[in-house]
Amino acid sequence: MILVISSSLHPDSRSRILARACIDRLSGLGEETHLFDLAVSPLPQCDGANAYGDSNVGELSRQIKQADAILIASPVYNYDVNSAAKNAVELTGRAWTGKVVGMMLAAGGHGSYMSAMGLANSLMLDFRCLIVPRFIYATGDAFEGSNLADEEIQSRVDLLVDDTLRIARALQTPE
Ligand SMILES: Cc1cc2nc3c(=O)[nH]c(=O)nc-3n(C[C@H](O)[C@H](O)[C@H](O)COP(=O)(O)O)c2cc1C
Repeated sequence: MILVISSSLHPDSRSRILARACIDRLSGLGEETHLFDLAVSPLPQCDGANAYGDSNVGELSRQIKQADAILIASPVYNYDVNSAAKNAVELTGRAWTGKVVGMMLAAGGHGSYMSAMGLANSLMLDFRCLIVPRFIYATGDAFEGSNLADEEIQSRVDLLVDDTLRIARALQTPE
């Protein structure tokens, strides 16, 4: 199963459109996939204590553990992923161990293209995640209403999904 996490809390989020484009690609390839949308399944702020007992946190942890790979779609906020994405990782911690992780960002401008690196470093160093070396970075002109309207970004979505599957399959231990 490939898990797609959408971290934007905006009702008309563009990164959620990227997340859905990944789901569509995965479904088209016949892959089992699941979207975990933080706007639909809100998580408490990580306090290092009681928040771990929240039922949505438990569900997200379960889905991360079950996933062969995880794709994160996030807004760029202050040259980083949004705090909801970081919070989700804080809350689910070790569930990420050894996972293949790909990333997509929606941004307001063209200059914040390295904004996934903080989270990528943290996932690599904390949990030995294998980060797919192909990022999607899309600004507002790639979207029309609730649709992706840029062939170049669409082809990058396809490549991210295909590379993520290829890496995840290659790392699977034989049964
Ligand atoms: C608090 C805040 C901080 C932002 N910081 C950046 C930034 O550092 N760089 C950038 O290119 N866009 C920035 N933006 C613009 C968002 O990345 C852009 O609106 C994007 O579409 C948000 O993703 P979403 O539509 O999935 O919510 C910021 C927006 C907000 C609300």
